[in-house]
Amino acid sequence: MNPLSKLFSREAFTSIGLMVLILLVAVQFLRPELKERPVTRDITLPADVKAIFKKSCYDCHSNETQLGWGDQIVPAYWLVARHIRQGRAHLNFSEWDKLTPAERKQKLWEAVNHTALGAMPRADYVFMHPAAKVSDKELTILKNYLASLVVHEPPDTSKINDEAIQYQQWLHTKAQSILPVSPNRITYDPNYKN
Ligand code: HEC
Repeated sequence: MNPLSKLFSREAFTSIGLMVLILLVAVQFLRPELKERPVTRDITLPADVKAIFKKSCYDCHSNETQLGWGDQIVPAYWLVARHIRQGRAHLNFSEWDKLTPAERKQKLWEAVNHTALGAMPRADYVFMHPAAKVSDKELTILKNYLASLVVHEPPDTSKINDEAIQYQQWLHTKAQSILPVSPNRITYDPNYKN
């Protein structure tokens, strides 16, 4: 028997397979800790809008992460944990109280835009969780919600008139103040140049 065939013998394969298996089991204990964070204030949204975010985004952008068993297996888990940490840092629907009203509006716009562009949810996540994909119908719901937030204020004529009067008054006082004063302390007539 030559040494090569011994190397590829059934026994060798079995022992290599066993070693890989032991390694895979051992490596499961190398898990970066995913901190449990409390929901301080969940974002308030209409139920249909909320359902879409919950289904497609909450695993990475909230403190209500629900990992499937497939996500928990190292090495997949390493990637998942990193995305959750980064995802929460960028946008966290569970800590909405930490944002100013302007920031909330901006994040919501970004969320819908990222979804419309197909950038979110991440492609690798959708591959593992096909149901998380946002359908065209769901995207329409998100866009309609955003559109409903834009307040159209009708022009207020009394306010505009007030401002026009104030502007004229300001022009007038300004004209007065730069008019030269004659030696007898009488201010020149505004029309003196004519
Ligand atoms: C698998 C985890 C994961 C899922 C699911 C996911 N995201 Fe993300 N998201 C990330 C990560 C990681 C980042 C930051 C790095 C990047 O841009 O890739 C991010 C960034 C973002 C940003 C950018 C925020 C900023 O301040 O730059 C927005 C907006 C966003 N995601 C929205 C969404 C929306 C909306 C959904 C659901 C439709 C979603 N994400 C689903 C992981 C995820």
